Amino acid sequence: MSVQILGTGSYLPPKVVTNDDLSKSLDTNDEWIHSHTGIRSRHIAEEDDCTSSMAAKAGKAALEAAGVSPDDIGLIIVATSTPDYATFPSTACLVQAALGCKGAGAYDLQAACAGFVYAIEQARCWAKVNKGAKALVIGAETLSRVVDWRDRGSCILFGDGAGAVVVGEAEGAGPEAHTVLWADGNGASFIYRDGGTRLKPQPGMFPIPTLVLQGHDVFAFAVRALAKVTNQLCEKLGTTPASLDRVFAHQANGRIIDAVARRMKLPLEKFYLNLETTGNTSAASIPIALDEAVRKGELKKDMKIVLCGFGAGLTYAGTYMQWPYL
Ligand code: COA
Repeated sequence: MSVQILGTGSYLPPKVVTNDDLSKSLDTNDEWIHSHTGIRSRHIAEEDDCTSSMAAKAGKAALEAAGVSPDDIGLIIVATSTPDYATFPSTACLVQAALGCKGAGAYDLQAACAGFVYAIEQARCWAKVNKGAKALVIGAETLSRVVDWRDRGSCILFGDGAGAVVVGEAEGAGPEAHTVLWADGNGASFIYRDGGTRLKPQPGMFPIPTLVLQGHDVFAFAVRALAKVTNQLCEKLGTTPASLDRVFAHQANGRIIDAVARRMKLPLEKFYLNLETTGNTSAASIPIALDEAVRKGELKKDMKIVLCGFGAGLTYAGTYMQWPYL
C-alpha cells in the first residue's frame, strides 16, 4: 500500500516584528541581522495565541486541503520544543480537543528543529501498517516565549508559527519515501533550554529559563548535517543531488543554506527559502515552507524533493520523497 501527503496547511500569527523594530530595544540593526542571517522580519504570537492554538489552525487548514474530516484522523503528532505546558499534558492532546478528532491518539515529539522530519517518518510507518488510517502531523512553536530578548546573538533568529500535513493511503501506487534519522548528544550544550529535572531545585530558579545558543558551533554542525543527510539519501537511492527538483531545508539562517548549496555544488535556486519573512520557526519551518510551496503551485506530481532539518540535541534528519508519495 502506498502512502501520501493528502493536504497541507500552515498558520503564521499576524503580528510582524521587523529587524528595525528589534533595533529599538536591542543593540543591533537591520543591516547586521540581514547580512548575517538573511532574516528581515518574523511573526510573533500575541496573547491570544500559543503553540496549541497555532497548531490547531494549521491542522484545520491541512484537513480542509485534504478534504478529510476530524473524525477520520486516527493519530496526531505535534513536533514541538515549546509545548503549552512544561511537560504534560501534551500539546497534541490540546489540538485533538480543539479540532474534535474524537477517534485519534495524540502525542508530542521533541527532536527540536528536526522534529517534523522525525514525526512524518513515524506517521508514514503508522499509516503503512494501519490500512486506510489517516494521521495529522504538525510542527508548531512559540519560540518568542522562550528566547532571551536581551541576547542579540540569539533572539533575532527566531519566529513563531505552525505547519501541518495530513498523511494517509495514496489514491494510486507511488514510490516509497526514504528517511534517515540521526542524533549526536555530544553537542547537547550547543543549544539548550534549562528548567528540567537535570537541575536540583534551588531558591530563585524562576522565572522561566531561556534558550542558550553557541551560534558558531551550531552553524558548523548545520552545514555538515544538511549536506550529509541529503548526500546519503541520494546515495542510498542510487541517484545524485543534482537530480533533485527542490530541497526543503530547515529555515535557520540563509548563510547556512548558502554554504550547504556550495558544499553540495547545487544551485541555490533548488533550496526553498522563506526565512526572510519567517525567521527560524524550529519544528514548524519545514511544514510552513512546504505548505507555501503547495499553495503557490510549485510542487508538481513526482517532483523529487528532500525535507531536511537539524537542531538541538543535536538532531538531524531527512526524507527523500517523490511528491506527494511517502
Ligand atoms: N547585531 C549586531 N551585532 C551582533 C549581533 C546582532 N544581532 N549578534 C552578534 N553580534 C556581534 C557579536 O557581539 C560579535 O561582536 P564582536 O566581534 O565585537 O565580539 C560579532 O557580531 C560577531 O558575532 P558572531 O557570533 O561571531 O556572529 P556570527 O557571524 O557567528 O553570527 C549567528 C551569529 C547566531 C547569526 C550565527 O552564528 C548563526 O546563525 N548560527 C546558527 C544558529 C542557529 O541556526 N541556531 C538554531 C539552530 S536550529
